Amino acid sequence: MISPIENLTAIRISRELLQPVFLGVIIFFCSMTNSFCAVPAQDSTLQVLHWWTSASERKAASYLAARVADEGLLWRDVGIPGGAGIGAGKVLKSRVLASDAPEVTQIIGASIGEWAELGFLLELDKVARTNKWNTAFFPTIQNLIQYRQHVVAAPLGIHRINTLFYNRKLFATLKLSLPETWDELVLLAAKLKAAGVIPLAQSSEPWQLATLFENLILAESGPEYHRELFVKQNAQAVFDHRFIQALERFRLMKNWMSHPVDERPWTEVVRQFSRHEAAMTIMGDWAKGELNEWGYATDDEFSCTSMPGTGKYHLYSVDTFSMFTNDYSHVAAQEKLAKLVATPSVQAEYNAIKGSVSVLRDADPAKMDSCARASWIAFAQGASMQAPSLVHRMATDESSRDAIIAVIHKYFIDDSVTPAETQKRLAAIFRTLNLNNRK
Ligand code: GAL
Repeated sequence: MISPIENLTAIRISRELLQPVFLGVIIFFCSMTNSFCAVPAQDSTLQVLHWWTSASERKAASYLAARVADEGLLWRDVGIPGGAGIGAGKVLKSRVLASDAPEVTQIIGASIGEWAELGFLLELDKVARTNKWNTAFFPTIQNLIQYRQHVVAAPLGIHRINTLFYNRKLFATLKLSLPETWDELVLLAAKLKAAGVIPLAQSSEPWQLATLFENLILAESGPEYHRELFVKQNAQAVFDHRFIQALERFRLMKNWMSHPVDERPWTEVVRQFSRHEAAMTIMGDWAKGELNEWGYATDDEFSCTSMPGTGKYHLYSVDTFSMFTNDYSHVAAQEKLAKLVATPSVQAEYNAIKGSVSVLRDADPAKMDSCARASWIAFAQGASMQAPSLVHRMATDESSRDAIIAVIHKYFIDDSVTPAETQKRLAAIFRTLNLNNRK
């Protein structure tokens, strides 16, 4: 059976071979007939495929669409529901297989390299050079958007995944202080439960559970160990006592959630939190964008802090757009859009709506709200304080990510699965992945 990747490779190769032939036929025809052969008009309509379908995400996308319109371009919106891009990834693959790739796509992290390797992505080197992207962005952003020394993505914003949202009014009424360590968090949860309040809003969607788990890993042992596990996929690291501790804490936290822990979209988790039905939630800061959009101002009803034990660190997901070359008829429009999203005003305004922060090193944190300021300042500390999110494809490719998330999910859902079994499963996956990567 032909795999989708083999199929994609075949499409790419046939396209690369046919394109010069096609152009050759046109040139031959033009020279033979001496007719006027105009260069095909540059198409100014851009289909943009993304997974921003919540209220704040739609608002952020509409903001970009309006700026794109100011440039005389048309943004044709293709929003695919599914938190963390699960649905959008599938739609993208099937559209590429059908030779119908959208001109612009939200592709993030390791997925950028996967698509670039197949030869589908437009190189944005000219835009990057003209706009001095090599000095404008944080080094981590520069690395993320490049594949083999070519810029193949335009960055939008940086999300912080180790964000703990808490209900300010509830904390004030119950005279609770913010937890800074795991032990304080345990005490706090006990107090909340005693007061009849659900401590944590949480979904059992695999990606949302894995988000919580990678927070626990980071809290327990910092970015280096997080990388050892999720970037290097070191099988030995799985047998470290820190891993068992994270698993135990993960299971303990189940008692802090409403039962059963339903598999529901992240927006519903945030809804539960906003209705004061749970005191806290641990979620990427797109939740802040959503709360703001629903009328809850930052530092009024709610505030954010970091997951206890991760205050100095930044567990990041960076949103980026990549451009599919197709027949090259949209290059001018695609380059305009790439340039536009990285301009200081668009960075400031878009990220304020989305809940993320600017990718620009000279952004002004004084103009950000308290959550965004803390995020931007933590990210600006540099790579040693940053951890690439497993869930959001910053640490590893799509299939490795999916395999790791499945093991974490199984452990959480099924109480009969022991930490030792989970360690064995994950170590086996890491060994297989390492073998495959060495091939
Ligand atoms: C992330 C993405 C965010 C947000 C979130 C929830 O992967 O970076 O922009 O959309 O998923 O779907």
